Amino acid sequence: MSTDAVTMDKIVSLSKRRGFVFPSSEIYGGLGSSYDYGHYGVLLKDNVKARWLEAMVRERDDIVALDSSIILHPRVWEASGHVSGFSDPLVDCRTCKQRFRADHLADPEHEEMRCGKRPSKRPGETPDCDLTEPRQFNLMFQTRVGALEETGVDVYLRPETAQGIFINFKNVAQIARRKPPFGIAQVGKAFRNEITPGNFIFRTLEFEQMEMEYFVPPDEAEEWYRYWVDERYRWHLRYGVRESHLRVRPHEADELSHYSSGTSDIEYLFPIGWSELEGIANRGAFDLTQHTEASGTKLEWVDAGTGERFLPHVIEPALGVNRSMLTFMVDAYDEEVVGERERTVLRLHPQLAPVKAAVLPLIGKDTAMVEKARALYEELRRHVSVEYDDNGAIGRRYRRQDEIGTPFGLTIDEQTLEDDTITVRDRDSLEQERISIGGARTKVAELLADDWKTPKAS
Ligand code: GAP
Repeated sequence: MSTDAVTMDKIVSLSKRRGFVFPSSEIYGGLGSSYDYGHYGVLLKDNVKARWLEAMVRERDDIVALDSSIILHPRVWEASGHVSGFSDPLVDCRTCKQRFRADHLADPEHEEMRCGKRPSKRPGETPDCDLTEPRQFNLMFQTRVGALEETGVDVYLRPETAQGIFINFKNVAQIARRKPPFGIAQVGKAFRNEITPGNFIFRTLEFEQMEMEYFVPPDEAEEWYRYWVDERYRWHLRYGVRESHLRVRPHEADELSHYSSGTSDIEYLFPIGWSELEGIANRGAFDLTQHTEASGTKLEWVDAGTGERFLPHVIEPALGVNRSMLTFMVDAYDEEVVGERERTVLRLHPQLAPVKAAVLPLIGKDTAMVEKARALYEELRRHVSVEYDDNGAIGRRYRRQDEIGTPFGLTIDEQTLEDDTITVRDRDSLEQERISIGGARTKVAELLADDWKTPKAS
């Protein structure tokens, strides 16, 4: 579907080769839909979260942060509708022993729907396929709190971070002293017993979510819903995702979750086809009403001065950290031939790149160059994420940095020893500029603050 050079296999391979993401429990044969994040994966994921928190909390006056527990009182999930309704309709194939989402079987958009037999067809397409009737399968992971089996309590690992926000509405509203519209943002792990193919880190058993619940006067809900769809769409563009690969898709009435009166997905054109990247839902008064009824605590907004009170409606933008990271990697991935050599480059937004600058002595064995380079590295590392590398030919060192998306290469060469200037190499244009070594820190800071647009063709 995609016309890019990128495929999911190439992203998987780069991720492993450069230490972004590893299959989990690999030495034991791996665990499906589980991944571990290596050094650059951690840095990239942290940058995605930082950019989200910046846009949602730091740059605004109307949103505050929260970090709630992963294990909540089990009644939270009864009230929220997850115990009865958070399930996928699944069919099993008795022949190939695979499981498929019943509602995706006939949908050509879902390219991942492949039968386990070779040559692979869509499930149900060959006479061998022997599918069961659809059965509902709850996605929540259950565990037990308490030392003793008999007295313990069944609890769930949260399948979304949102409920931790709703049950803290009163605490936060009182302390933040804010009148709706205001929001509460949370970044944290969520767990789902996903049994359909994961497509690398697109869909995993555990993942991180960045969710924000925006509480508004009921008559303003529709207006704020449209505002957040627009705002969130622009966030992905701001960090370089190509507009040609993004779209907003409003849900059909029969797709809406049990709590939603309107949802739009921001979709990205992944190598597996157009798929959900982020969801923005108008949850109405569903959650605050449910928790008010189940807990007996009124979760309404009350003006301490005038006594005015109402039950706010909620608009929720919800994005997966890991899926967002995958999007940035897929969108940034590029291959090109430079001087008869192929290079793979991650054209990441500099503010997302795991390493901002590499400090490289041109000749790794030249003591004077190494000394200057180390001194520069020591100065820069106190301010930004930088890497020092003196190992091997300079071309190979550049290519390694290109693959992890480092936007700037600072090279110390013969001329540095004469006049204290270095070259700054731009990852995308490959242009080199000479600057004074003393100005390197300011230069990197300026480059990072500059507006940035992906050089990739749409
Ligand atoms: N509170 C609403 C909610 O959780 P969702 O659409 O189920 O809505 C929000 O999840 C986002 O979380 C998705 O758009 C996706 O980015 C991410 N996400 C959901 N399930 C995931 C999974 N199994 N693996 C990775 N990311 C997932």
